[in-house]
Amino acid sequence: MKDSFLGIPFYRFYYPGDVEKVAYDLENQQWRRNDFNWIWAGINERGTGRNLHDESIFADLFTWINECLEEVRKDLAPHATALKLCSSWANKNDPGDHFFDHTHPNCFLSSNYYASGHNKDKTVWLLPNPWYSNSNISPFGDYTDTKYHIMHEEETEPGKYICFPPHIRHYAQPNTTNRPRMTIAANAFPSGLIESGGVSRLRVEVS
Ligand SMILES: [Fe+2]
Repeated sequence: MKDSFLGIPFYRFYYPGDVEKVAYDLENQQWRRNDFNWIWAGINERGTGRNLHDESIFADLFTWINECLEEVRKDLAPHATALKLCSSWANKNDPGDHFFDHTHPNCFLSSNYYASGHNKDKTVWLLPNPWYSNSNISPFGDYTDTKYHIMHEEETEPGKYICFPPHIRHYAQPNTTNRPRMTIAANAFPSGLIESGGVSRLRVEVS
């Protein structure tokens, strides 16, 4: 379903499959500890790791995610052959863990699947407030003041899948439950023809 936050179109879907099985299967993956949470051990820092969307145990989920991406493609990139996943992984937040402020480089679209967690623990997007973002005026003194950003808070709902612009900073609030909170991150890029006015054409094959 198409919706908007911060005036920006985004997309929200709900997995019709076995939400609890996906969460269970994620918990049983291998994990590597970061400073504030865990990341799926299938990736590595040289970019030669695996992608979660290639793992057979999650095939049903990613078949559905690709159907969702096809809906988004029709709206955002109608001339492209597909919005193809180019990287995907998972994150685990133990009780009290949070996910740090970040963006998603090297993609046109990013997305998040909420496998488990509580709806009061939000993901927060921070769009620079245009009153301040194009000037060096800081009338509130501390540049971290919330007035410097327009914020959107998205509830953690198991089974929810959202697609959003990857360059908008976002973070996840601490997990206040007593169970691990599992999420999947997936980046995508248009594959096929990207063009503007029939002139500026780029043909890409995303794999
Ligand atoms: Fe993210």
